[in-house]
Parts: sequence; structure tokens; C-alpha cells
Amino acid sequence: MLKPIIPDNYTILLSEETIQARLRELGQKIADDFEGRKPILIGVLNGGFIFLADLIRYIALDLEIDFLRISSYGNERESTGHVKILKPLSADITGRDVIIVEDIVDSGLSIKFLNKMLMAFGPRSLKVATLLHKPSKTIEKIRLDYVGFAIEDKFVVGYGLDDGQVKRNLRHIYVIEQN
Ligand code: IMP
Ligand code: MG
Repeated sequence: MLKPIIPDNYTILLSEETIQARLRELGQKIADDFEGRKPILIGVLNGGFIFLADLIRYIALDLEIDFLRISSYGNERESTGHVKILKPLSADITGRDVIIVEDIVDSGLSIKFLNKMLMAFGPRSLKVATLLHKPSKTIEKIRLDYVGFAIEDKFVVGYGLDDGQVKRNLRHIYVIEQN
């Protein structure tokens, strides 16, 4: 069997069980908030794909999904501030209840850009769900409606989040200890 490699300097920050318990709460909250509606959840690729896949199974509502892909980081660990659309939306979100689903909000540049871009389509409502938030790093004024976990300013990987495009398939979220 091919085993994902977990280096010695990776330590677990959030276990699979901890993540799932929190997603159950978020899913129930979203189901309550959108009762009687059919929201469309927009996963931000690549990092948000596992979060979206797990989250929607805790939302007891009819809902739709779509994905878009943006890039602001390349293979670097710090934001360049330049956001590019690498894959546009497929769905028509005009008049829809839209929830952006992000892996992590760091500077907030990506969410600010996405908010502006999606608002231009005239959604009925636009909310943001992010699994992780680094409040100490966030320079943009943005509203986050559903936050899984607020974390310290450390680089994290696993559960969709990458380090140089690999490690997304780890089941827990790890901090990379710098030494
Ligand atoms: P922001 O635009 O600075 O808020 O950055 C958001 C994006 O940067 C996220 O969607 C991630 O793809 C990436 N990112 C930020 N911090 C981390 C991290 O600690 N690990 C992995 N990716 C990160
Ligand atoms: Mg992301």
C-alpha cells in the first residue's frame, strides 16, 4: 500500500475526529440558516475540496455545488497579493443563496476578491464558510459567516491544504514545526 509520508516535523493540530465534530455543528447551523432555501456552495479549489465534500454531508437540505479555482500563492507559503481566476464558475448564481467554501483565510485577499467577483453576478445572498482562519494575519476587512477553527499564525497542511501541492491527502491537519 502506498502510504502518505508524514515527516517528523509535522505535529497534529486538528485531528480527523475534531474536524468532523466541528463540521457536524457547522452543517446544522447552515441547515437552520437556510431552511426552506436551496443554497449553492462554491468550493474554492484546490484546498477547499475535502472540506466541501465533508461539510455538505452534514447539511440536511437540498443544495447544489460548484467549484472555482483561483491562485494567489503559486508554490510559495506567503501571499503574493495577486489573485488570478484559473477556473471560472459554471453555475448561474444570479438570485441564488451562495456560500463560498474556503480551506483557510489568511490575509483575506482571496476572500475579498471572491466576494467582489461573485457579488457582480447579483446573488440573493452571499456568505463565507472557511474551515480555518488565521485572525492575526488577516489584513482585509471581511465578514466570515461560518468558521471551523481560528488558529495561530502557523503554516498548516493536510485535509485539503497543501505544502508545495502535496500532503492534501493527510487525514488530520498538521502544523509544520520550523527547526
Ligand atoms: P489569503 O488570500 O491570504 O487569505 O490566502 C488564502 C489561501 O492561501 C488559502 O485558500 C490557501 O490556499 C492558502 N494558505 C494560506 N495559509 C495556508 C496554510 O497555512 N497552509 C496551506 N495553505 C495556506
Ligand atoms: Mg484556498
